[in-house]
Amino acid sequence: MTTCILSGIRPTGNIHLGNYLGAIQNWVSLVNTIDEHLFCIVDQHALTTAEDAHDLYEHTRLITAAYVACGIDPNKSYIFAQSHVPAHTELAWYFNCVTPLGWLNRMTQFKDKAGKNKEQANLGLYAYPVLMAADILLYKATHVPVGDDQKQHVELARDIAGAFNNYTKADIFTLPLPVMPPQSARVMSLRDGTKKMSKSDISDYSRIHLLDDDDALALKIRKAKTDSDPIPSTSDSLIDRPEAKNLIAIYASLCGASVNDVCRDFEGQLFSTFKSALTDVLIEHLRPIRDKLTRLLADQTEMDRILARGADYANSIAAETLGDVRKSLNLYPRPMR
Ligand code: TRP
Repeated sequence: MTTCILSGIRPTGNIHLGNYLGAIQNWVSLVNTIDEHLFCIVDQHALTTAEDAHDLYEHTRLITAAYVACGIDPNKSYIFAQSHVPAHTELAWYFNCVTPLGWLNRMTQFKDKAGKNKEQANLGLYAYPVLMAADILLYKATHVPVGDDQKQHVELARDIAGAFNNYTKADIFTLPLPVMPPQSARVMSLRDGTKKMSKSDISDYSRIHLLDDDDALALKIRKAKTDSDPIPSTSDSLIDRPEAKNLIAIYASLCGASVNDVCRDFEGQLFSTFKSALTDVLIEHLRPIRDKLTRLLADQTEMDRILARGADYANSIAAETLGDVRKSLNLYPRPMR
């Protein structure tokens, strides 16, 4: 069986270290072991929340360039915008018709995002996991690299695949597996080590933006919250020190080492010393990414080439799957003149 990865990020103006270490770096390491790789910029998902539904043109450019700058080869993998492949929303509709409301009511992300005002939440936000299932199943993806918060959605995609296969008795869809990044790749806020680094945090000092210049990187690390204890000899002793653990984990991820290795190397040192080592590694690592990102953003022809190549390929696979789906539903085939 051919293996296929599919993953995606919503196009927002803020692509940060958490997206890189927690997601894209994991994709890059999977690419070599999997036959086909599709990376989507999920612009139609961004429309479900008001804070993300603006500047989609510019933000799609930014995420496209970030995928490439962070190590996705646009000639070996396919990079495309969700809205360039209309089959996603069509397949989502067919899935809507086999997905019980009870399954969607269990989705914790909807509860978090809709908050207290559930009656005012839009239908798109509620149906979001069904569109995500369509993103994945359209390409019969076998591996879906996602963060913890999206695991439940990939499990729902498995259930929807099963429900559709069962309803049509056509066995079209493969059940995808979620692939989680290593624990150390979970990047937390620099202001509060118990919260994920996030684009929506009000403090810009909580996150590292991939376009931050060297001075901004140094300043953010200097201001990052820590404690006054020295670095312990093993990661076990970091359990009650979330901010300390986060900075050590960031260092470990950047160097491809484990948190334990880093503890061993810096045992007994204070964060004042460790922070300057972290700043050096961060600058060394992010400078080439930032340079590549800036270069690509200035090269509209290359941007269009990458997205056109991705969309052509994605549409060709999508057309095959949708053809099978329409047939399995007994829809009248469109007569050609
Ligand atoms: N829901 C994901 C997120 O918010 C983004 C996403 C949309 C996605 N479609 C996907 C991720 C398909 C993996 C596969 O992070």
